[in-house]
Amino acid sequence: MKRFQDIVIASALSWAVLGSGALALVDDPVQLDIHDAKKAQFHWQVNCRGCHGVKGYGSAGGAPPMPGVLSKLLSVDGGREYLARVPGVVNAPLDDADLADLLNWVMLTFTCEPLPTEFRGYDAVEVGALRKKALVTDAHLKRAELLSKLGDSGASDGLACATGE
Ligand code: HEC
Repeated sequence: MKRFQDIVIASALSWAVLGSGALALVDDPVQLDIHDAKKAQFHWQVNCRGCHGVKGYGSAGGAPPMPGVLSKLLSVDGGREYLARVPGVVNAPLDDADLADLLNWVMLTFTCEPLPTEFRGYDAVEVGALRKKALVTDAHLKRAELLSKLGDSGASDGLACATGE
């Protein structure tokens, strides 16, 4: 365990040295390079909050809760792609770089569980390519399919962290 922690710290340091811009540090070993967190938060408020809510809990019959589910989706094959292909993301009036920064901010802000350790942030090139593969009307089906791979109905989404509301 000690050895594992040493490796994590070493890799965090190399990210800090190599990474450009501000480095967001979270409680888990995943390091994300958010270029402009304030701008990302502003973009969230203007473009996403109406459906997803201030804290990402969504609303009954509307957007599903994000806390408790983002890390699950990221751990499933196809989940990373799904998160950048939903209509709200694809159609946001933002360029690919700002959208990538917003998505990374979302992953850090609205997860209540550690992100998968292998997760690395989105960048403009990846987001630009995924935007071209938009899930237009079938995003909810894709979501259900991904969660079913985990044997998860999604019924407990959001509950895991509801005490933090
Ligand atoms: C019109 C309402 C609406 C807006 C605006 C919206 N979304 Fe969504 N979002 C949804 C719904 C509904 C889903 C669930 C998938 C589906 O059925 O389309 C979703 C799913 C997601 C997901 C996948 C999470 C999950 O648990 O499935 C992410 C990530 C996401 N949205 C990010 C954003 C971001 C970032 C913005 C702003 C740029 C945004 N959304 C704007 C309604 C919206």
